[in-house]
Amino acid sequence: MIMVKTSRQTSFIKTTRISTEYNNVADREVAEMVHSIESVSTGANIIIYHQRRTGEKTMKLLVLLGSPRKGGNSETLARKVAEAIEQSGGTVEYRRLNDLSLRPCQACGGCEKTGNCVIKDDMTEIYQAADEADRILLVSPVYFYALSAQCKSCGDRFQARWSRKYLLKERFRQDEGRKGYLLSTSATKGPKIFECSVLTARYIFDAMDVQYGGEFLVKGVDQRKAVLEFPEEMAKAEQFGKDMAAGRA
Ligand SMILES: Cc1cc2nc3c(=O)[nH]c(=O)nc-3n(C[C@H](O)[C@H](O)[C@H](O)COP(=O)(O)O)c2cc1C
Repeated sequence: MIMVKTSRQTSFIKTTRISTEYNNVADREVAEMVHSIESVSTGANIIIYHQRRTGEKTMKLLVLLGSPRKGGNSETLARKVAEAIEQSGGTVEYRRLNDLSLRPCQACGGCEKTGNCVIKDDMTEIYQAADEADRILLVSPVYFYALSAQCKSCGDRFQARWSRKYLLKERFRQDEGRKGYLLSTSATKGPKIFECSVLTARYIFDAMDVQYGGEFLVKGVDQRKAVLEFPEEMAKAEQFGKDMAAGRA
């Protein structure tokens, strides 16, 4: 355990593989290191400092929020997953698909020669964020046994990446173990409630040249934030994030 004293606060950083390296460093020095990054000292800051110092790669998670309902069940769970990534020193970027201007795929074939979509809208930025991400979490409520329209429109636009991979035979960061996951919630509890969404998500990630890492699914939550009444599901979401960060998922 390292005790870090900064001008603002004293905090205790849990012993980790990384913090043991700093065990022999004087409190003041650690405080300065932490201070030079951000003024608040946390375990995550130490890890970020360590990663910057050693050049160790920081995991970048892109979260595509596909519900129109802000702070709803799927978003609440996604933030819990992402929190675990941040606590492990990773970085998280969110995109709320409902707030973006995304035209559905026009099947124009424009991407077939370049692997890039010809439509100029907010998807341009999603392509870039997806290319830069190491992990992608697609977050969708079940709508009529499928992904939300926001997720489906965005997913269909990855036809451009399907062209890149399958028509142009261009692989993208294929040796880097990039992974994509589906997080979904539903009101009902039918045994096949997530089947369609999982299949679609798998296929979208395949087009992105991202390996499918699995899914986190919660049935029987309907009202906004109903999932908070199930602390065991929130705990599982946190564990899912930890497993992602540790490369177990
Ligand atoms: C248009 C619409 C369609 C839905 N279709 C289904 C469905 O087919 N099966 C189901 O169990 N829940 C369905 N639901 C309920 C949502 O999946 C559920 O409330 C979910 O937890 C919402 O997630 P959110 O809070 O992140 O938006 C539907 C909700 C809406 C608004």
